[in-house]
Amino acid sequence: MARYFVGITGASGHAYARALIRALLEAGHEVDLAVTGAGEKVLRHELGLARADLAEPGVRVFDADAVEAPPSSGTALTGGVILCPCSMGTLARVAVGFSSNLVERAADVALKEGRPLVVVPREAPLSEIHLENLLRIAKLGAIVLPAAPGFYHRPKHLDDLVDHVVGKILDRLGVEHSRGARWSGLDEPPTERGIER
Ligand SMILES: Cc1cc2nc3c(=O)[nH]c(=O)nc-3n(C[C@H](O)[C@H](O)[C@H](O)COP(=O)(O)O)c2cc1C
Repeated sequence: MARYFVGITGASGHAYARALIRALLEAGHEVDLAVTGAGEKVLRHELGLARADLAEPGVRVFDADAVEAPPSSGTALTGGVILCPCSMGTLARVAVGFSSNLVERAADVALKEGRPLVVVPREAPLSEIHLENLLRIAKLGAIVLPAAPGFYHRPKHLDDLVDHVVGKILDRLGVEHSRGARWSGLDEPPTERGIER
């Protein structure tokens, strides 16, 4: 059993965060999480949830301002930090070590301690600033795993797309899971329609 820190920011794609938390709990792990101020607005807009609604057994929810919380220190062991979804703002601040809140500080700690940091950016199109920041954190050791699901597994529901990204995050963390179909090669063309349009 390990404890993972999930930092939820003001980028779109909170369904990924919710599915990630659920998958980590299902795998027997514990989750610490914090939601930025912008993240709280998007969480309410996209999922109709408040930060407090994410609290459940196995999950510790911290205020984003709680820089005194355990995830702020490298002495508090974690299996890794996941910024999901990661805004371009948080990305930029992590890329320069700004650490202005618990989400950014937890990412900073992962980098300095050499622990897994998975960044799940969501923005389109990407400016040169965004691309430079993504390259910068990749060079610093972060895993850049865009919220860009594939369609080759022929998704039928939105959950299939969400799980495709979540499964890849879990793979990079070494967490066993059954999220997202694994590629087994080309087969016959589909006989039924794909995702509902
Ligand atoms: C509904 C909504 C969706 C947003 N989607 C994105 C997004 O996908 N990517 C992004 O970088 N910013 C997005 N933003 C803007 C960020 O929330 C904004 O830049 C914020 O300052 C980020 O703060 P944070 O990094 O502290 O969470 C969105 C804002 C709103 C209200």
